[in-house]
Amino acid sequence: MKTQVVIIGAGPSGLLLGQLLQRAGIENIILERQTPEYVLSRIRAGILESGTVSLLHQAGAGERLAREGLVHEGVEFLFNNQRIPVALSALTGGKTVTVYGQTEVTRDLMACRSRSGATTLYQAGEVTLHDVNSASPSVSCLYRGERVHITCDFIAGCDGFHGISRQAIPAHLRQEYERSYPFGWLGLLADTPPVNHELIYAHHPRGFVLCSQRSATRSRYYLQVPLSEDADAWSDSRFWQELRARLPPELCERLITGPSLEKSIAPLRSFVVEPMQYGRLYLVGDAAHIVPPTGAKGLNQACADVNYLWQILEKYYRQGREDLLSQYSALALRRVWKSERFSWFLTHLLHDFSSHTPFDNRIQEAERDYYLHSRAGQTTIAENYVGLPFEPVE
Ligand code: APR
Ligand code: PHB
Repeated sequence: MKTQVVIIGAGPSGLLLGQLLQRAGIENIILERQTPEYVLSRIRAGILESGTVSLLHQAGAGERLAREGLVHEGVEFLFNNQRIPVALSALTGGKTVTVYGQTEVTRDLMACRSRSGATTLYQAGEVTLHDVNSASPSVSCLYRGERVHITCDFIAGCDGFHGISRQAIPAHLRQEYERSYPFGWLGLLADTPPVNHELIYAHHPRGFVLCSQRSATRSRYYLQVPLSEDADAWSDSRFWQELRARLPPELCERLITGPSLEKSIAPLRSFVVEPMQYGRLYLVGDAAHIVPPTGAKGLNQACADVNYLWQILEKYYRQGREDLLSQYSALALRRVWKSERFSWFLTHLLHDFSSHTPFDNRIQEAERDYYLHSRAGQTTIAENYVGLPFEPVE
């Protein structure tokens, strides 16, 4: 087989890139290890920056999002039992975020792809990259019992944090930056109305809490828990009881509980690989970087990478802009590190760190107090939360 771009991974990065390329007339094949059902069963964050929303519209995948996505003009923070609204829109010249689950984004992109007729090989095993640092790279895999070999111009590694693409960059050229946190988030999804119209990010001495939502009738809550916790040890009633213990009385009164649809623990980690390209291989999304979920940046940063890569490829094919091919990594990394910084900052601002000395705790309190009671502090939080702009590709 032969194509222009082989995309490894059919998560949001691979599907969005495939769709934008397809619409620009650039042929691509996606290889995905799992089944579509498995990909759709993963529950992830649900806050879209406006740049992400625009890109989904550009990809032709914005129709249901426009109908069902909930536009939020603000967000709340809570500590010392005090709720502090941050007016995202007023502080950023009218920018907003949209509540719409990543699972739904993936579902919409899958539907677009099947309508476009582009090839996706699901349950592709033993995906292997060849001659990445040459003018004619290729990818092989095991598909329905047969070895398939695809030659191409470019390979996009969109295969997530546990994928294989990153390893194709020789170890001596690859620099990895990492921080792991000594806690995780225990998440619960339930068909109950959200406790509050806006999302609430809360610091509590018992640990961080996030009150999020997917719709007017579906809530998503998270509790900071030690990494040693096992989700099976958390019955629904234990979860709700602990959530109440970390919320002020007026929210507890409004909290509606119900049976969980899903409950799981996610570890928190910051990770970046540099560079994000090698020869004809480009890394996109979680394959190149992950963030703790505190700023809801994972999916949005993945889409920002896609924004740069698809424009570079489009300008290469349409205008012969070979010079742009080497610029992807530097361009993408400038925004990646800002997303990393913001996710790290909010994680440090709001979680309970057992390693903290009494001095560290006082500094952390002063930071919360300063950032959230100052217009300048709120503005820096707001402009990062709604999403930093994309640089032009030129
Ligand atoms: N061969 C083929 N496919 C693979 C391989 C492989 N060796 N390894 C992984 N994959 C597939 C996975 O099964 C998955 O469907 O690549 C896909 C990667 O998808 P994601 O992990 O969702 O990564 P990405 O598309 O970059 O999306 C980023 O997802 O993890 C969240 O917070 C993150 O929201 C962000 C978004
Ligand atoms: C979610 O709704 O799952 C969610 C929202 C905001 C975050 C993280 C997760 O920062």
